[in-house]
Amino acid sequence: MKIKSFIAENEEFMKKSGITNARNELFWILEEKISLSKKDILLFPEKQLSQEELALLIPLIQKRCQRYPLQYILGKSDFMGLVFEVGEGVLIPRPETELIVGYGIKNFPKNAFILEIGSGSGCISTALKYFRPDLNIVAVDISEKALEYTLKNSETILKQKTPFQFYLSDCFENIPPFPFDAVISNPPYLSLNDMQMIDRELLYEPPIALSPGEEGLSVYQKIAKARPDYLKASGQIVLEIGYNIEENVKKIFSDYRLVETIRDFQNIARTLVFEASCR
Ligand SMILES: C[S@@+](CC[C@H](N)C(=O)[O-])C[C@H]1O[C@@H](n2cnc3c(N)ncnc32)[C@H](O)[C@@H]1O
Repeated sequence: MKIKSFIAENEEFMKKSGITNARNELFWILEEKISLSKKDILLFPEKQLSQEELALLIPLIQKRCQRYPLQYILGKSDFMGLVFEVGEGVLIPRPETELIVGYGIKNFPKNAFILEIGSGSGCISTALKYFRPDLNIVAVDISEKALEYTLKNSETILKQKTPFQFYLSDCFENIPPFPFDAVISNPPYLSLNDMQMIDRELLYEPPIALSPGEEGLSVYQKIAKARPDYLKASGQIVLEIGYNIEENVKKIFSDYRLVETIRDFQNIARTLVFEASCR
């Protein structure tokens, strides 16, 4: 089959499955899976795809039409301009999470000690350390699979063996007390109700990364116990929040002082920064 017919047929097929960016997705899949760049495709549209290439590509496109996430097909995802390996068992980094990293790069004190709860792909901790090599980071996740991704991505991107300390832990459970300068987290925050209405693509991501159950607040409640054992007196807690839980999270942290609400480009509150000093 010629490349141009392959693109035409599959673009149509993908669009019918509701994939709006089908042409670009096809270019990305061809580049990643058979090393055929967009330039090659445009210069040589008559080139034939081999049977082996078709046997590799067609099942992937069928999977994509079942709304299997593109990033899992490509095996990678961009975050803060860095490339993270992703696959089943780990949350795909989201652009809104870059706000936590931006805050940390600008505000964390020199040589600060940072604890990340729920490191997943390692995107937050790795990007922070990449742009602020002076920071000392401890990464924690409750999922062994997620922690494997944190380790792999941090080592590949930072070109360093075990650049952080890693703990398999339910929040602070397995971490020795230490006065961190900041505890940061993008915790699972969807409620059971939200989980009934999620997009099909999210169904392929690990439920433990999306929802802690019930109201979606239990990991925030555990993180609020950071003080006094895991936070300096002037330490900060930097948290991503869901679009509808801002007030609930503020209530959970009512013993802390809210220092900043960071909004995304749509003006939605995405990150809350609290300080340990009593109100
Ligand atoms: C929303 S994902 C965030 C992953 C990554 N930090 C990011 O921003 O893409 C939440 C992560 O928290 C982990 N997690 C869920 N409950 C946890 C708990 N009680 N203690 C530690 N980690 C937890 C999940 O396994 C998942 O990797």
